[in-house]
Amino acid sequence: MNTCPQFTQNNLLSFVPSTRYQGSKRKILPWIYKNLKGLEFQTVLDGFGGTGSVSYLFKLMGKKVTYNDVLKSNYQTGVALIRNSNVVLDASDLEFLLKVNGFEYPSFIQDTFKDIYYLDHENEWLDTVVFNIQKLSEKYGGKLLRTKQALAYHVLFQACLCKRPFNLFHRKNLYLRTAKVKRSFHNKGTWDRGFEELFLRFHKETTGRIFSNGCRNKAICKDVIKMKENDFDLVYLDPPYAKSDNGTGKDYFRLYHFVEGLIDYHNWERKIDWETINRRLKKKKTEWDNNSIEHSFDTVFRKFKDSIIIISYGSPGTPSIKRIKELLGQYKSDIRVKKKEYKYSLKNNNGKRLYEVLIIAQ
Ligand SMILES: C[S@@+](CC[C@H](N)C(=O)[O-])C[C@H]1O[C@@H](n2cnc3c(N)ncnc32)[C@H](O)[C@@H]1O
Repeated sequence: MNTCPQFTQNNLLSFVPSTRYQGSKRKILPWIYKNLKGLEFQTVLDGFGGTGSVSYLFKLMGKKVTYNDVLKSNYQTGVALIRNSNVVLDASDLEFLLKVNGFEYPSFIQDTFKDIYYLDHENEWLDTVVFNIQKLSEKYGGKLLRTKQALAYHVLFQACLCKRPFNLFHRKNLYLRTAKVKRSFHNKGTWDRGFEELFLRFHKETTGRIFSNGCRNKAICKDVIKMKENDFDLVYLDPPYAKSDNGTGKDYFRLYHFVEGLIDYHNWERKIDWETINRRLKKKKTEWDNNSIEHSFDTVFRKFKDSIIIISYGSPGTPSIKRIKELLGQYKSDIRVKKKEYKYSLKNNNGKRLYEVLIIAQ
């Protein structure tokens, strides 16, 4: 079993798994670490865990971590990287996962997603591998099975994101990959790499990132508003960014519906909204989205009022930092705001300066 790596603020990123997930805080982890390392806490909830990069930082810091995300696909990452302390996919698992075994394979992805996200032979590869992941149940059982499957899904999802324009599934846009045009910024090199090569690359990276920090870390998959557990020393919140006044945040379910489908392969067909060109899953709203964003913030602040609350936020954002401080002020007396200019890889804010913000409330 790997033990907890010793890291510093400067070399921290070399320990943290890479990802192309939108909104990941991976790049700014050293700054987050600098601002959190002086706080006293042992148990921590990462309420909107995403790629698990902040949970992973807490794990490196030796904390007892509960990772949470409402997406089932992200939950697999939480199991694979945060809860898991010693299980890896070995050579026989890889062989089983990547080869065509003697099963009668379905062709659901090939039939449903033709010309939408991937090329025909890539869809066939996906049908095979996702079926094999499920068939790991013929080799393993119980928690070991669930951890091996989570590792395989995590690795598969990273490969899936890499091969997508914008790393997303929001549009039917396979043509962006195949069109013979000059590109200034897209990732054509990675798109054209084989799925198997990318799977093995992420497998290697993930295997080297599994370690025990001596704590029983957890991964859960809940709408944060509905969480019953609230006994944490510190709660870290990085909710979907909302930029408009109507208060609805970025819809991660819509951006990543394809990997949500992969996770529930056998039921995928009946969950698809067949009216959509890109075969999206039927809309699913959380309690966080169902109410106004201010109301949702307030509900979560009240729920975790006995914990140190840290919020990652973007500025400008809705609600404003001032309003968030007012809401927090109902429960907390010591509120500090840290700001850092953040350079997004794509300029999408009409040249306005964007800031990454940490609000620390004790
Ligand atoms: C900005 S991302 C978090 C990124 C994360 N900190 C990281 O570094 O990867 C927001 C996440 O919140 C999740 N999410 C959205 N609504 C949620 C809810 N009601 N409860 C829990 N998670 C939610 C999304 O699936 C998404 O992964």
